[in-house]
Amino acid sequence: MPISFDQASGLFKLDTKNSTYMIEIYREGYLLHPYYGGYIPDENVKDLCYRGTFASFSPQNPRILDEPFSPDLAPMEYSCNGTGDYRLSALQVRGSGGDASTDIRYVSHKIYRGKPALTGLPATYAGEEEAQTLELLTRDAVTGVYVTLLYTVFEELGAMTRSVVVENRSQEPVDLERVYSCCVDFPGMDYKMTHLYGQWFKERTVATRRLEHGIQSIASKRGASSHNHNPFLCLSSLNSTEESGEAFGFNFVYSGNFDLSVEVDQRGTTRLIGGINATDFGWRLEPGESFTAPEMVMVYSSQGLGGMSRTFHKLYSSHLIRGKWKDVKRPVLINSWEAAFFDFDDDKLVEFAEEAAKLGIEMLVMDDGWFGKRNLDNCSLGDWYVNEGKLKGGLSSLIERVNRAGLKFGIWYEPEMISPDSDLYRAHPDWCLQVRGREKSIARTQYVLDMSRQDVRDNIFRQMSEVLSKNHVEYLKWDFNRNLTEVGSLLLPPERQKEVFHRFILGTYDLMDRFTRAFPEILFENCSGGGGRFDPGMLYYSPQIWCSDNTDAIERLTIQFGTSLCYPVSTFGAHVAHRPRTPLSTRGNVALCGTFGYELDPRKLTEKEKELVKKQIADFNRYNDVIQRGDLYRLITPTENPFHCAWEFVSSDRREALLTVVTMRQRETPFLILRLRGLDPEKYYRDAETGEIYSGALLMNAGINLTPRPDGAYEEAALDGGSLVKYFTVQQ
Ligand code: DGJ
Repeated sequence: MPISFDQASGLFKLDTKNSTYMIEIYREGYLLHPYYGGYIPDENVKDLCYRGTFASFSPQNPRILDEPFSPDLAPMEYSCNGTGDYRLSALQVRGSGGDASTDIRYVSHKIYRGKPALTGLPATYAGEEEAQTLELLTRDAVTGVYVTLLYTVFEELGAMTRSVVVENRSQEPVDLERVYSCCVDFPGMDYKMTHLYGQWFKERTVATRRLEHGIQSIASKRGASSHNHNPFLCLSSLNSTEESGEAFGFNFVYSGNFDLSVEVDQRGTTRLIGGINATDFGWRLEPGESFTAPEMVMVYSSQGLGGMSRTFHKLYSSHLIRGKWKDVKRPVLINSWEAAFFDFDDDKLVEFAEEAAKLGIEMLVMDDGWFGKRNLDNCSLGDWYVNEGKLKGGLSSLIERVNRAGLKFGIWYEPEMISPDSDLYRAHPDWCLQVRGREKSIARTQYVLDMSRQDVRDNIFRQMSEVLSKNHVEYLKWDFNRNLTEVGSLLLPPERQKEVFHRFILGTYDLMDRFTRAFPEILFENCSGGGGRFDPGMLYYSPQIWCSDNTDAIERLTIQFGTSLCYPVSTFGAHVAHRPRTPLSTRGNVALCGTFGYELDPRKLTEKEKELVKKQIADFNRYNDVIQRGDLYRLITPTENPFHCAWEFVSSDRREALLTVVTMRQRETPFLILRLRGLDPEKYYRDAETGEIYSGALLMNAGINLTPRPDGAYEEAALDGGSLVKYFTVQQ
């Protein structure tokens, strides 16, 4: 059983095939955390909670004076504010007494098969045979809140999830000020912290630093998970590498304000908390009401960052992404954005489609600019009816023509936004987020709709479903091009304004849920000015997310590598664009590591380029299985090597491998021997291109020599921006 409880010792043991997580019911009902790490069979771990004797500055419980226990030093399972633990608090409740001291103690527990859904929130899911759940019920005696700590163990995957439900069983309202989704205390401080930072056009760059005393954190208070920090953080042992050593990955299943903070305390121990950012958060909980904190995914790896990533990928591919498109090859698409921006009409789009069909492209996506009177990014968001001046004959006629050309049809929306210059805003100026008496900030000439309101969501749902139900739309790109300001709702009373950030996200999830239920056939792609909401919350509703507006293939390497730390490549929206700084072949090879498509004017391709595009599409169709389902190995990281970037996919049966190498900058002596990973050392692999046969052992230990040859082999790949793809299959 992955979860067990020993009554005598009061210990819970949560095992996966490679990890153990333990919780102890200590005296007076305190919950402690003796251990998280590689699998151990024993239960004799209580000693691990001892942190030495201490002086008067770490408070004690007056009932436990015979043991050196202080909540300030002990590894606490879920830290509370103001009752003796001065480190980062996971929970802070302001009760009817007006103070914010909080203290939860064990009441009871339940262990059961499967995994419960989280009301109104995205979360991983599992069948009864795939996971086991522990619910720990605790209580704060003074405020009267009951706090359930939820743990689900995916035994076969080396992953766990956590969430928290707070219920007000008192007779008075209480104010929740912090409800983090996890708190994990580690026994030392010898860890590296890896996270993903960035900005628009440069999302998810990997950064790693050694932990220091004090608090270090990554966060968002933009109302979106953001381009700037991803809700992902990894603590890894100092000697860990890409493929070795311990790594603890945390990824928050939420698309709004988050905080992942790490504190190294006075004893040199480490606490990590993660959840909804307490800044700009508050929740009034009336008697009888409950609040659910979003889910935190925790992955343990003893095979470095690479092992951690592969576990995240498997978990998300099989237990987060849903619906018809979950395991299906995605259509190769052509998107109108970089091909035409706002400058298109029906005839131009049909020409794109006809040209694209000849190349093997399967879908045309009509991006921004088809609705209201939108010819620039300064109007019409919220007016989701067709601009018949542009699309003469309307949408149905356009779609028919595109379908006739042999392509499916996809469309763009930005549902949470409203332009000041729109019919919707003129009719409902009260429908956007705003604070009475304060001027609204503007970004990309648009405001943000108040998604906490049911009437707003109903209107958007009605407008969009009118279009979707009357037309043969097979794909929907859901964009979100600014962050939130003046976050207030005209419908809520003053004491509830602090709820608006979270209510906004709940409203967005509600709308996405309605759409995915109403239109289960549609392939949804999320987007936020590129990858500003690339998070697991969004992946629950859309199996793919546009990675970045930066379509330069060399820049994309850093972005895609960072993204791959926790997200499967099957979710990366990646297109070949007209960015001639890099050869078309490399643009294709980089986009292959994703959902694959084009974002250029196909009419302008030369005959030679067209032949190459056809080959790229054939490659995508041929390799898609190993890319979408295979294990990813990051061989050379672009931020660590100035010359090359390389990665490899290996099928789960280890019979196929696909290797890609990109030369970001030409070396003076273009010498490169590359060692592969993840193969079967005892099997023999055939290089599909050269016919050469090598043992898996040779390819992994000695490597393959990719140095250019006098006959021209590998020469182009070694030039600035050059690349190569090699496919290996096991010899029968
Ligand atoms: C930002 C997206 O990332 C682009 O791909 C495009 O859809 C534009 N928005 C359209 O406004």
